[in-house]
Amino acid sequence: MSQTGKPTKRRVHIRTYGCQMNVYDSDRMADVLAPLGYAPTDDVALADMVILNTCHIREKAAEKVFSELGRLRELKQEKAGRGEMLTLAVAGCVAQAEGAEITARAPWVDIVLGPQSYHRLPELVARVARAGALPPNPQSGHPTGNRLLDTDFPVESKFDHLPEASQGQGIAAFLTIQEGCDKFCSFCVVPYTRGSEYSRPVAAVLAEAQRLVAHGAREISVLGQNVNAYHGEGDNGPVGLGALLRELAKIPGLDRLRYTTSHPRDVNDELVAAHRDLPQLMPLLHLPVQSGSDRVLAAMNRGHSADEFRRVVDRLRQAQPGLELTSDFIVGHPGETAADHEASLALIRAVGFAGAYSFKYSARPGTPAAGAPNQVAEALMDARLAELQALLRDQQQAFNRSRIGMTMDVLFTGSGRHPGQVAGRTPWLQPIHLLGPAGLIGTIAPVRVVGVQPNSLNGALAAADGQTRNMPANQEPAPA
Ligand code: 5AD
Ligand code: SF4
Repeated sequence: MSQTGKPTKRRVHIRTYGCQMNVYDSDRMADVLAPLGYAPTDDVALADMVILNTCHIREKAAEKVFSELGRLRELKQEKAGRGEMLTLAVAGCVAQAEGAEITARAPWVDIVLGPQSYHRLPELVARVARAGALPPNPQSGHPTGNRLLDTDFPVESKFDHLPEASQGQGIAAFLTIQEGCDKFCSFCVVPYTRGSEYSRPVAAVLAEAQRLVAHGAREISVLGQNVNAYHGEGDNGPVGLGALLRELAKIPGLDRLRYTTSHPRDVNDELVAAHRDLPQLMPLLHLPVQSGSDRVLAAMNRGHSADEFRRVVDRLRQAQPGLELTSDFIVGHPGETAADHEASLALIRAVGFAGAYSFKYSARPGTPAAGAPNQVAEALMDARLAELQALLRDQQQAFNRSRIGMTMDVLFTGSGRHPGQVAGRTPWLQPIHLLGPAGLIGTIAPVRVVGVQPNSLNGALAAADGQTRNMPANQEPAPA
């Protein structure tokens, strides 16, 4: 506090790695720090505090943290030379999984904070402030940190203690409704870093969605590690994701809804019906399958076969013609044979994806697969990944080309790269650019797709002529 009683002006630089849930969490950390006088800055050199919001899902993602901490040590040292303090915090899943290792390998870190403890950030920041400037390590000359560690899974939910989201997030917003996972896939750290499944109550979700819309959101993506396992408390007991989406769709001005990330096992009839009935629910679904081999799916503990996945896809496509899918794939899970890999390629050909993320299996400490005896050689994984990605890339390009000539609603989210251009997203989340007035930003307007770039589409404003929206021109809408 300054002598006037107002919080002193300070700046926090938050660097976000990993998933959209981390993006959401970073905003919440900014909110929790605002009453302490911290304003966000994009410029790390101006920061009084740096938070790395980290990802532990694959080894590469986790390694980045330690190299970044090396650079931040130098910044902290430079600032100390000028008599200034730099508070360093590591948050997110690396903090949760490797908290003790962080304080040992990077003793200049002040705060290590797991993803369920963000509401306790102000208390930790206050403790760092009370400790004041610490003398450098006499041997190494490196700056010293407070090394405060908070990686419990508190009984209370952070959502009950975080302040209301202060600022809007703009036209397309994220809203975390569910956290953690009880599925325990063989390869995945999430159940260990984020803890067991927790769903926010319906009323809290609706209130936050209304605030986001009041701040200009036209599209909301509801998020969860396992979002379709959502079972938040409603007025008359727990409510599933399908019913929650119906409630969200009633919010005036909320034109578009998405949800991510889903598990094929939790696609129930209620969710399928939401795809059939809600025009707000966009026709693109991210549904990770990981592998097309029943043997590997069983080893992964996914709880479904390749055929069951295809049946889920069929049900969804029947409910919402025009629905496109994206997915996640892992190559080289322990025990994966050439035949298993072929089964993944076959599934991709059979389903047809509008896009996908694909990864080499990365052994994560503490997960069952990491200890499996039959690890796949790196070179084999490289070759399989290249083959899988070539197929997925072809499918994505074919999908993008298939939109040429179609008229579809575009949500305009900002200006384009070139003067006079505006940028938006199609119902299928493809970035699209066109020449048009800046006044379009924040609105939805019909656009005709006229061209395809490697990662985006080119469009031209279409007359609002009553054409069926979001549908190929030659396709009838499904009967309700
Ligand atoms: N190795 C490789 N990819 C992984 N994923 C999760 N854990 C691992 C791992 N150990 C991938 C999965 C998941 C996505 C978010 O990250 O495909 O769906
Ligand atoms: Fe990880 Fe998703 Fe499996 Fe949960 S369902 S363990 S988050 S891959």
